[in-house]
Amino acid sequence: MSDTAPSRVHTQVGIVGAGPAGLLLGHLLHLAGIDSVVVEKHSRDYVIERVRAGVLEQGTVDIMVKAGLGDRLLRDGMRHGGIYLAFLGQRHRIDFEDLIGASITVYGQNEVVKDLIAARCATGRPLHFEASDVRVNGFEGTEPRIQFRADHEDLEITCDFIAGCDGFHGICRPSMPATSWHAYEREYPFGWLGILANAAPSSDELVYSLHERGFALFSMRSPSVTRLYLQCAPDESLDAWADDRIWDELSARLGTADGWLPNQGEILQKNVTGMRSFVAEPMRCGRLFLAGDAAHILPPTGAKGLNLAVADVVVLSRALEAFYRHHRRDLLDAYSDVCLRRVWRAQRFSWWMTSMLHRAPGGDGFDYRRQIAELDYVTSSRAAMTSLAENYVGLPMTQR
Ligand code: FAD
Ligand code: PHB
Repeated sequence: MSDTAPSRVHTQVGIVGAGPAGLLLGHLLHLAGIDSVVVEKHSRDYVIERVRAGVLEQGTVDIMVKAGLGDRLLRDGMRHGGIYLAFLGQRHRIDFEDLIGASITVYGQNEVVKDLIAARCATGRPLHFEASDVRVNGFEGTEPRIQFRADHEDLEITCDFIAGCDGFHGICRPSMPATSWHAYEREYPFGWLGILANAAPSSDELVYSLHERGFALFSMRSPSVTRLYLQCAPDESLDAWADDRIWDELSARLGTADGWLPNQGEILQKNVTGMRSFVAEPMRCGRLFLAGDAAHILPPTGAKGLNLAVADVVVLSRALEAFYRHHRRDLLDAYSDVCLRRVWRAQRFSWWMTSMLHRAPGGDGFDYRRQIAELDYVTSSRAAMTSLAENYVGLPMTQR
C-alpha cells in the first residue's frame, strides 16, 4: 500500500477472478447492459495457459453460443455422443444420444477462457490482470468495495454488488464472517496425475477405466493432443514418475482385450491434483455472491466443476438483470437456494462416479468386486445407463 489515496471507480458489479465464472458473468452482464469491473490476481498468459477441464455439458455449450461465444467452440469443439466405461479388459459404451438424445462437447477450459477474454476486451469494459493485495469489504452494508494494487497504483472499486468468482483458494469466501456460512466437506484419499501428450487420440470418445491397479481416464484436447489421468496418492511426487513409468501404467490400466491402447507421444505437461468435495452454504453474504469454485469443489470424475460455474453465473446474471430492470430482489434472494439444488445433485453424481471408479487405499477384494458388480449393472441396465447419461450430460440450465 502507498501513502496516496487510492484511485476510486464506481461500477454496478465488481467481479473478483477472471476464470470461467468471473469472465462469463462479466459477459452476460454486458449483454444485459450492466456495467462491471473484473479484477484478477494472475497474468493473462497464466490464466489462459492453465490446463484444467475439458468436458462441456450441452447446456454450457448452448449458453456460450447464445451469448455469441460459439464461433471457435462450434468449429473446434469435439462433439461426443457417449463415453466408454472400461473394466475387466472390456470397454462398454454409454450412448447418450440414443438414451437421452443429448451430447457433450470436448473443448479445453483454456480455450473457453481465451474466448471469454477476447469477448471482454472487445467490449472495452475493464479487466485488471496481476492485481495484488485484493480485498473485499462493505458487502454486509450498502457500500461494497474491492481494493487492490495494479500497475503500481492503489485502486478502489465501489459497487452495488460483489461477485466472488475467485476459485477455491480465493479471498472472497474467507472474507465472509465465519458465523454467516457453513462448509460441508469430504476429502478423498487419492489424487490424479494428469498428462497432456502430443499424440493423436486413439478413441473418438472418453474412456473411464477401473483396473485392479487403480483408475485411469483417457481424454483429449484436439485431433493431435491426448489428455490422460492416473489415480495416484493425493501428495504424489512427480519425481517418481518418469515418462516411461507413466506410459507403462496408462497402458496397463487402460488397455483392453481387443488390443486398444492410448497412442503415445511426447509428454507436454504433467501435474498432480488432489480431490475433494466442498460446498459453502449459503453462497451469499449481504451484497457478496459466491459463484463457481469459490463456493464449491467436486472431484473431477463427473466433469462438473466448470459446468457448475457456468450454471451459477447464469442464475446470478438473471437475478442481477431482474434487479436493475425491474427493481426485483426476489431472484437475488433465491440465488443461493437455486444454485445449491444443482450443486448437490452434481456433488452426488461426482461422488458416485468417483467411488465406483477408484480403488481406496486399504480397500479389499470385497470392495473391488462390489465396484465391478456396479459397473456391470451400469453398463447393462438401460435404466442405469439413462441415469448416468442424464447426470453426465447435465440438467437443463433453467431447472430449479
Ligand atoms: P477458477 O477457474 O479457479 O478461476 C478463479 C480465478 O480467480 C482464477 O483466475 C484465479 O487466479 C483468480 N483469483 C484467485 N484468487 C484471487 C484473488 N485474491 N484476487 C483476484 N483473483 C483471484 N470441470 C468440468 O466441468 N469438466 C471437467 O472435465 C473438469 N476437469 C477438471 C480436471 C482437473 C484436473 C481439474 C483440477 C479441474 C477440473 N474441472 C473440470 C473443474 C474446473 O476446472 C473448475 O471447476 C473451474 O475452473 C471453475 O471455474 P471458476 O471460474 O469458478 O474458478
Ligand atoms: C479432461 O478432459 O480434462 C477431463 C475429462 C473428463 C473428466 C475430467 C477431466 O471427468
